Amino acid sequence: MSLSTDSAAPGGDVFRVVGGARLVGEVRVPAAKNSVLKLMAAALLAPGRTTLTGAPDIDDLDVMASLLTSLGCEVTRDRDAATVAIDVPEEIGHRADYDLVRRIRASTAVLGPLVARTGSADLALPGGDAIGSRGIDMHIDALTALGAQCSSDHGYLHAHAPEGLRGARIAFDFPSVGATENAVLAAVLARGVTTVTNAAREPEIADLCQMLVSMGAQIDGIGSATLTIRGVERLSPTVHATVPDRIVAGTWAVAALMTRGDITIRNADATHLSLVLTKLSSAGADITVLEDGFRVVGRGQPTAVEVVTLPYPGFPTDLQPMMIALNSVSDGAAMVTENIYESRFRFVNELTRLGADIRTDGHHAFVRGQTRLSAAPVEATDIRAGAGLVLAGLVADGVTHVYGAHHIDRGYAGFAEILQSLGADVTRVSEVAP
Ligand code: EPU
Repeated sequence: MSLSTDSAAPGGDVFRVVGGARLVGEVRVPAAKNSVLKLMAAALLAPGRTTLTGAPDIDDLDVMASLLTSLGCEVTRDRDAATVAIDVPEEIGHRADYDLVRRIRASTAVLGPLVARTGSADLALPGGDAIGSRGIDMHIDALTALGAQCSSDHGYLHAHAPEGLRGARIAFDFPSVGATENAVLAAVLARGVTTVTNAAREPEIADLCQMLVSMGAQIDGIGSATLTIRGVERLSPTVHATVPDRIVAGTWAVAALMTRGDITIRNADATHLSLVLTKLSSAGADITVLEDGFRVVGRGQPTAVEVVTLPYPGFPTDLQPMMIALNSVSDGAAMVTENIYESRFRFVNELTRLGADIRTDGHHAFVRGQTRLSAAPVEATDIRAGAGLVLAGLVADGVTHVYGAHHIDRGYAGFAEILQSLGADVTRVSEVAP
């Protein structure tokens, strides 16, 4: 199992994608990766057994489980039942090693719980990755406002609050997902009241807050840009059903439109994708919202649509590569603007290997659509780029090999199998003959 966020290791698995199929059928969306990993970290706040249901079968959960185990917890994953149970002892460790932190960004979510529970945290600095520099300065500012003393040396952040944390006003310059999560995770056990303004509003943050409330935390303003947290002395373990993965749901929606297919996407919340579905509808998709999801039908060539990524409820950056792939085979031309990550257009060079007509300039990508792409070997550099490249391969003439399959595995459980169930000829091969 390779989990590096860097380029694919030579000899790693490859997705072999035969272009041309129309995707038809039904998919069930698992729980959100970017929620469940933080919920696992949140379990640290209460001694006892916390159980998360609907856990996706992705490798990142194993990394978070190893991190929690290294902190003294016992983590039990039942893949058949899709649950993960975390037994948290009264005394936990406070060090998160580089070996684990470098593999998943979400590991930074242990910072708040560790300082809140133990008064101390030594967290390996995560560094940047394939999509951007990904600093944690706002996480540090939030912890500092709550009374922790923070310093760093030898690649580690040290946060100390021997007398405990105290409520504070935290005003973010930018609604960072991870910094908002760490602020909340620390403030729930601080003395007094904390207000977080310009908080990130992603559904995964509301999910985290709801789980914390079920553990006994007092949080007002859930889902809004202002969170008010009244610290409590102790939290209790809980059982929590994780929010569905809106990025996985959105990926299937784009796939339906690109392949002129018909996919019913179950266990998805259309309200979490309202701007995405509006864009896909402008691009030509017929969308029907159902009780437990939605159905997307593509008829004829899509129309290119402008996309501007922004924090929620803006257009999610994690669906940007799929939208560039979609525009590459659409009628017309459109600008895609990326406002979250400075390097998220890196995969565009791979897409141009498939014949896509894309010009990038800073954080803009101008995409001219065409009727078809032409198959070639390409390399995934991160989860979402990988998914975008597979979708592009589905509408390319011939056989596309997408290297770096392990990146895709981090966010999409059973990606090839699900594509096969929808009628695509996609297989996983361990090496490709020259
Ligand atoms: N940033 C800073 N300093 C900070 C925090 C963030 O400069 O202290 C910058 C980052 O470098 C980045 C931007 O602010 O350029 C956004 O960062 P944010 O904190 O909002 O995102 P994150 O918590 O690092 C999560 C998801 C990402 C998703 C973003 C935005 C997890 C584990 N990751 O990252 O998911 O793109 O929110 O929605 O939750 C993915 O799943 O493929 C993925 C990259």
